[in-house]
Amino acid sequence: MQFIDLKSQYRLIEDDVKARIHAVLEHGQYIMGPEVEALEIALADFVGTRHCIGLSSGTDALLAAMMALEIGRGDEVITTPFTFIATGEMIALLGVRPIFVDIDPVTYNIDPAHIEEAITGRTRAIMPVSLYGQCANMDAIREIADRHRLPVIEDAAQSFGATYKGRRSCALSTIGCTSFFPSKPLGAYGDAGACFTDDDEVAKRLREIRNHGQDRRYHHPRLGLNARIDTLQAAVLLAKLPLFPNEVAARIRIGARYSDLLQDRGAVSSASGDGAVLTPFVAPGNESVFAQYTIQVDDRDRVSAALAADGIPTAVHYPVPLNDQPVFQPSLERFGTPVSARVAQRVMSLPMHPYLSDEDQVRIVDAVAEAAGLGTR
Ligand SMILES: Cc1ncc(COP(=O)(O)O)c(C=O)c1O
Repeated sequence: MQFIDLKSQYRLIEDDVKARIHAVLEHGQYIMGPEVEALEIALADFVGTRHCIGLSSGTDALLAAMMALEIGRGDEVITTPFTFIATGEMIALLGVRPIFVDIDPVTYNIDPAHIEEAITGRTRAIMPVSLYGQCANMDAIREIADRHRLPVIEDAAQSFGATYKGRRSCALSTIGCTSFFPSKPLGAYGDAGACFTDDDEVAKRLREIRNHGQDRRYHHPRLGLNARIDTLQAAVLLAKLPLFPNEVAARIRIGARYSDLLQDRGAVSSASGDGAVLTPFVAPGNESVFAQYTIQVDDRDRVSAALAADGIPTAVHYPVPLNDQPVFQPSLERFGTPVSARVAQRVMSLPMHPYLSDEDQVRIVDAVAEAAGLGTR
């Protein structure tokens, strides 16, 4: 059994992928070829923003987004510590101080109740992460941000395709940044990412920044990056896009089925507190794309070892909150983050992809129930 199965999807689109890659090989425009603009138009339409700017990765999308908002040395950005390293890493790489505030114990996303006390005269943005494929409480975050005239940058690397109150992730903030890393809900066959915005000036800056700050040939009004999306990856994504709505639907269905099966065995939702196994809670108004289907268990090492012995791969997203990472030491902590610390000890992700079979899902749930001692407590 695979943690994420990319082959089944490839079999469905093999001919189109090959034809599109072949077309790139024939026209030879490997950098900023016509597939890039075609993809940007299709993705902006899917998300519902005026602009999509294709970038070389989700990491570069975060970096470019902060550069486009002219956030830099001495500034502060408020974010969650319970995320992939790239979120805090790109903030710090710009000489900006990441201010980590704690997460909500039910959704694991940044808790808006902690944001306001973290705002100072140096705060330049709020950066929620839509973890595991579920958007954060964006209305509450936007309300605080608007009151303090701050932009919001959504790290939507895990949530492309998710919706929040009927609107797509990436269309909920000043700039939405996503990743097309191969294992993401919409994955390329290499590194790729994108920024989304409704702001024409921000979009113009992002287009310049991804191309060395160039506004016309050999004319550079700003510093930039080499962060263009690769034409071949754009071609692959164009081939995958027609499948994507069905894949999103499958992810929603498979995520819900995991929770139903586990709860039939005695697991409880993270919204209802304590238990040997906690299933993820999708907040009302959200549709999660379950980039990860992540449970909490009491004795993670033992449970994951038992599953591994059964041939079932698991993963931990993420074992160490960013504010405990050596790179962010000595800790610049202003706020305690006990929820992140506790959850990081307990989370475990199960195999999750749109082609996961019902039989495999039952086998996984049986193994979790047995290893975690469900029903025998
Ligand atoms: C929350 C989060 N932010 C940023 C990234 C970075 O994306 P990429 O790997 O495309 O650079 C990832 C994914 O790996 C992620 O999960």
